[in-house]
Amino acid sequence: MVNRRQFISALGSVSLIGTAAATGSGLSAEDVPKEVPSGPIYLNQNENPLGMSPHAKKAANAALAYGHRYPDAMVRSLAAKIAHTEGLSNDSVIIGAGSTGLLIAQMFAMSGPNTTVIAPAPTFSRVERQCAVTGATYVPLPVNDRFEVDLEGLERLSAKTTGPVIVYIVTPNNPTGVLVPTNPLFNWIKRAPANVFFLIDEAYHDFVDDPAYQSAVSLVKEGYKNVFVARTFSKLHGMAGMRVGYGFGHADVTGKISAYYAPWNLALPSIAAAMASLDDTDFIARGKKSNSNGKAILTETLDALGLAHIPSQTNFVLHQITGDHQTYKDRMEEAGFLVGRYMNTGPGWNRVSIGTPEEMQAFCRTLKNFRDKDWI
Ligand SMILES: Cc1ncc(COP(=O)(O)O)c(C=O)c1O
Repeated sequence: MVNRRQFISALGSVSLIGTAAATGSGLSAEDVPKEVPSGPIYLNQNENPLGMSPHAKKAANAALAYGHRYPDAMVRSLAAKIAHTEGLSNDSVIIGAGSTGLLIAQMFAMSGPNTTVIAPAPTFSRVERQCAVTGATYVPLPVNDRFEVDLEGLERLSAKTTGPVIVYIVTPNNPTGVLVPTNPLFNWIKRAPANVFFLIDEAYHDFVDDPAYQSAVSLVKEGYKNVFVARTFSKLHGMAGMRVGYGFGHADVTGKISAYYAPWNLALPSIAAAMASLDDTDFIARGKKSNSNGKAILTETLDALGLAHIPSQTNFVLHQITGDHQTYKDRMEEAGFLVGRYMNTGPGWNRVSIGTPEEMQAFCRTLKNFRDKDWI
């Protein structure tokens, strides 16, 4: 087991956390690509094109000195740090190997052959795929023509269903980028019958700038036991490869879920990086700014080309294309851009992740070039 005091002091000695981050030392635009890289540009998996926080990288490196120790204490420290930030008790927070690890554990803990999982379509597919493992029935309900989640429709479906129900809501949704309105969702959670449980996926929570938005964590704080909220370090924190996610629930809920995975199954460098990243407020602000600049460059070009796009509260945009999606993807790949991971968006639409502003400028030049060739 890691001697936490030793480890924290090791972190401190290389100026990684706490005061060093707060004063912004070493936070010049280090590691931020200034040029468009020569390899393919990844605009297909909603990652952070800036990479990880420089402080997080240093923390991960420092953690290698403790690689021979089990990470339990550091995992608990990260949970406590997140719990403190949210004003929750430590047992309301669990840490997992990405939020995927927690979504899967929740499904193992709470679903079986008599469970119905109700979700909007399209949405992130991991929970649907997990139904095939636990034997639950997956019932998708299409979003409306403005790509909004039909909460009333979902509630009607749920009311008609006997046996346990899990309502899976991604907000803002992937691949549409659209927020599920806070009040109607919260009111449903508050009045829902005892057989209905809500799995709220806030993977893109960090990007939201709509002032009307509220995280479902507030319901956990109010003591509701019918909700679990999953979040991730994979997106704004740029740590998709490090595999750290976290979740919030009443202690009864987190207790049930943590019985279905090994909460210490995380690499020490990843936990150290997550702790340092949380403190790196400059990096977080830079990531948000870069994302909104990149998004503005993209949407301006889409508007100029007359290609419809859905207003997005995330780091990706669902936009119109003309012609066949696979052909579009293949041509983009030939031009050096990986776009449009298939997500049941149907023909005529593509999801593109936001790269750096420079990458988005290059992408937009390619879009215009495609228009010149009559490809979009
Ligand atoms: C809505 C949603 N939930 C969860 C995940 C998985 O994230 P993680 O890397 O934390 O497993 C993703 C990844 O793209 C996502 O879009």
